[in-house]
Parts: sequence; C-alpha cells; structure tokens
Amino acid sequence: MNSLFQSERLLFRQFTVDDADLLYQLNSDPEVTKYVHEPPTTKENAPGILKNIILPQYELKLGRWAVHLKYTHEFIGWAGLKYLSDRDEVDLGYRFIKHYWGNGFATEAASTCISYGFAHLDLNRIVAKAHVHNTASLKVIQKCGMKFIKEDIVDATPVKIFEILR
Ligand SMILES: CC(C)(COP(=O)(O)OP(=O)(O)OC[C@H]1O[C@@H](n2cnc3c(N)ncnc32)[C@H](O)[C@@H]1OP(=O)(O)O)[C@@H](O)C(=O)NCCC(=O)NCCS
Repeated sequence: MNSLFQSERLLFRQFTVDDADLLYQLNSDPEVTKYVHEPPTTKENAPGILKNIILPQYELKLGRWAVHLKYTHEFIGWAGLKYLSDRDEVDLGYRFIKHYWGNGFATEAASTCISYGFAHLDLNRIVAKAHVHNTASLKVIQKCGMKFIKEDIVDATPVKIFEILR
C-alpha cells in the first residue's frame, strides 16, 4: 500500500473517491459521531463528503488522512490536519472505528500528524478542539503535549481548545 508517511504501527495515505464505503463504515456508528458536530454519514452522502470536504484539503497538502494498520493493512479510521479558513488555523483531528479504540492508535496517529506537520509542511502552530465531555479525545490531545488555551462555544458546541507550537 502506498503511504504518505508512517508511524511505528500505522500507515497514513490520502483518501480517494473510491473510499466512500470506508467512510460510511466509520461515520455511520453513532458512538463515533457522538461528540462531533456533523450529520450522520449515509451510503448516499458518503461520496459527496469525500469529494466536497475531504479531497479538496489535499490541494494544500493538508487534510484528513486514511489510517491503516501497518502489518494487516486494515482501515481503522482517519487522522490529520485540516485548514480552517474561517479561523485561519490548522486543526488536528482523528476518528477511529470503535473496534480499534483503546490501543493507543489515536495518540500515535495524532502525535505523528503533528510531527509531520512541523517537519514536512512547515507549519508553526496546530490547534485541537474537543467537546468538554469527550474524555478520550481530551486525553489524546494532552498526551500529544498540546497546551490548553480556553473553553469556548464553537458550532454551538462547548469545547476545550488547545495549541502546540513548532
Ligand atoms: C477519541 C478517540 C479517537 C480515541 O481513540 P483511541 O485509539 O481509543 O485512543 P487511545 O487508545 O490513544 O487512548 C487515549 C487515552 O484515552 C483514554 N480513553 C479512551 N477511551 C476513554 C473513555 N471513554 N473515557 C476515558 N478515557 C478514555 C485511554 O485510556 C488513553 O489514556 P491512557 O493512555 O492514559 O490510558 C476515539 O475514542 C474515537 O474515535 N472517538 C470518536 C471520534 C472522536 O470523538 N474524535 C475526536 C473528536 S475531537
């Protein structure tokens, strides 16, 4: 499998138009989307999410990258760095299929994306936001060494905001 970059256990690659089924598999679980502010992904709207939201990010070399286990090539979810034009900042995000939670994959993926952003994309600052009750995600952010800035309401959601500088 061609990858953009790798970590000890994970491969990161760009999604393609052919990945609608994988995206649906991930986003159709209400537990996965519990704390993220977006409508459920259906089989019908998955291709549009890829085409209109995920793939255009790659023009900036940023984006949400598909994450696979290195040794079995199983798809486990996504992680990545998204440019938010309304806030003029680069946002760290990650999302994994429930079956794979609790193995340290999110922490490994998030810290690898941060390193990749600083080393290869010339970024100076990366932010992350998580719902105030999303304990697992808050732990991941803190384990990556990000610094708490403030609590805020973003997209009608109470979040904690963190940053890390190069
Ligand atoms: C958040 C998420 C990515 C974490 O994935 P993961 O692979 O289980 O994370 P890790 O295994 O790296 O665990 C990170 C830490 O959170 C802890 N944790 C995991 N689930 C937890 C929970 N429900 N409550 C409290 N702590 C939890 C882990 O124990 C670990 O801490 P530790 O190393 O001190 O033990 C995963 O739960 C997920 O995909 N959730 C749905 C999407 C989402 O909310 N994304 C983030 C949006 S901001």
